[in-house]
Amino acid sequence: MNKEKLNEAVRSRRTFAIISHPDAGKTTITEQMLLLGGVVRQAGTVKGRKTGKFATSDWMEIEKQRGISVTSSVMQFDYNGKRINILDTPGHEDFSEDTYRTLMAVDSAIMVIDSAKGIEPQTKKLFQICKMRGIPIFTFMNKLDRDGREPLDLLAELEDVLGVETYPMNWPIGMGKGLQGLYDRYNQQVALYHPDADGQQYLPLNEDGDIAEENSLHQESIWRDTLDEIDLINAAGNELDQEKIKTGDLTPVFFGSALANFGVETFLKTYLDYAPQPAEHETKSNRFVEPTDEIFSGFVFKIQANMDPKHRDRIAFVRICSGTFERGMDVSLQRTDKKLRLSNSTQFMAEERENVQTAVAGDIIGLYDTGNFQIGDTIYTGKEAIQFQDLPQFTPELFVRVNAKNVMKQKSFHKGIQQLVQEGAVQLFRSYTANDYILGAVGQLQFEVFEFRMKNEYNSEVTMEPLGSKIARWIDPEQLDEKMASSRNILVKDSHDMPLFLFENQFSENWFIQKYPDVKLAAKL
Ligand code: G4P
Repeated sequence: MNKEKLNEAVRSRRTFAIISHPDAGKTTITEQMLLLGGVVRQAGTVKGRKTGKFATSDWMEIEKQRGISVTSSVMQFDYNGKRINILDTPGHEDFSEDTYRTLMAVDSAIMVIDSAKGIEPQTKKLFQICKMRGIPIFTFMNKLDRDGREPLDLLAELEDVLGVETYPMNWPIGMGKGLQGLYDRYNQQVALYHPDADGQQYLPLNEDGDIAEENSLHQESIWRDTLDEIDLINAAGNELDQEKIKTGDLTPVFFGSALANFGVETFLKTYLDYAPQPAEHETKSNRFVEPTDEIFSGFVFKIQANMDPKHRDRIAFVRICSGTFERGMDVSLQRTDKKLRLSNSTQFMAEERENVQTAVAGDIIGLYDTGNFQIGDTIYTGKEAIQFQDLPQFTPELFVRVNAKNVMKQKSFHKGIQQLVQEGAVQLFRSYTANDYILGAVGQLQFEVFEFRMKNEYNSEVTMEPLGSKIARWIDPEQLDEKMASSRNILVKDSHDMPLFLFENQFSENWFIQKYPDVKLAAKL
């Protein structure tokens, strides 16, 4: 690809994740976007994945059993001159580090909130990761066709609980059964809501912000209320500050209904105007790799084994950071300094995994892996070695002690643990004295997946003794005295032999801090 074409291709890429609490409407809005992109033709296709029709994220048996999507999948489609990559982040209660790491591979995020519920725990956690990365976050307040909370109340909650400024791009004209439409501040129009009709009707606004032509809405008190509220947010609300959007300090908020497909198209179009194209990536030597650099580079943010039980494959998901990917190209793997030929690769389309021919910065490719890759690996072409910054390691919150059920099967037990830990499925710790295996995760589901995969892929049944939730704090080995271990904490070491305490609760951590004021404790996030 010549330089001009590469520039053009990169400019068209929009790579994002949709974050939400379960049931807020992530699947529904994703599906509406796929419909707009012409990838699926019929509503219900994505939801129908439980029946196997939409199998992209249905790889594992456990997903089917529980009816949830465990693995983050990738969907690509074209819309309005843009090539969109949506990275799915499972938002269910037991979510995992995979979800977190997926957010390392996107350039922006959409936060879907149920307007009757407001901010729920999972949204908050995911938001914090986005905030840490300083990426733009756009909010879709969903389910406007149902009675929800007052819009002003919802904005206040976003500001208070998440610590982010808000800018409402549109404003509901009524809600639930009384929903009449959306006052679109950004496009200076009113979108009328006709629950039974196809398509939307738009009425332009005049200079005073009122509907330009005579309309029946003028007679309704809800219209006067809406204009009052618009006056209020114009006077007292935030400015639409592009710089703050870029850094994630201000979130543009869109109200709408994913299910009724109301406000989704305008949302997607406006979002695409603002969502950033792939940005530069910083290396460990503080060099910035531009997405339009000719050398190819990318990093592995996720490894998934046995996505398709029929093929026993293992796939490394690579976010491309620069250059052009071509099938069969030779790259260097920074960690091992080995050369690899990338002949067996796959790109993620909505309906099936397709072989990828070329891909550029922002795109995600899947590389069939025979054990070469680890999470966080950088691959590149060219003479100069590139190593992107480490992916953050997330502080686990839940712990179990794990053993092989059958002591005669230690070999497969160790092999399974080693591989699954390498894949980043769970984190492994050893107790300091007894050398027991202790697993850590951010969500319970990670343990279930671990147990299931140990049995199915490594033929190793395990017993897991729950240790509950703990506060993990690393301690400088120089400062460690084994006597510091007590009944209120467990002293363990991580996979790099670094010591840490697992505190029972906040109380026991505080107690420790008071007892050893000079000892520094660190959470690794
Ligand atoms: P998730 O992926 O975030 O978990 O949510 P999902 O899209 O699956 O939506 C959760 C439920 O909320 C679904 O209902 C869905 O139909 C409904 N929903 C999504 N968006 C809207 C909306 O704008 N308005 C209303 N009223 N409902 C919405 P369900 O009964 O759990 O599933 P289904 O049987 O309808 O598929």
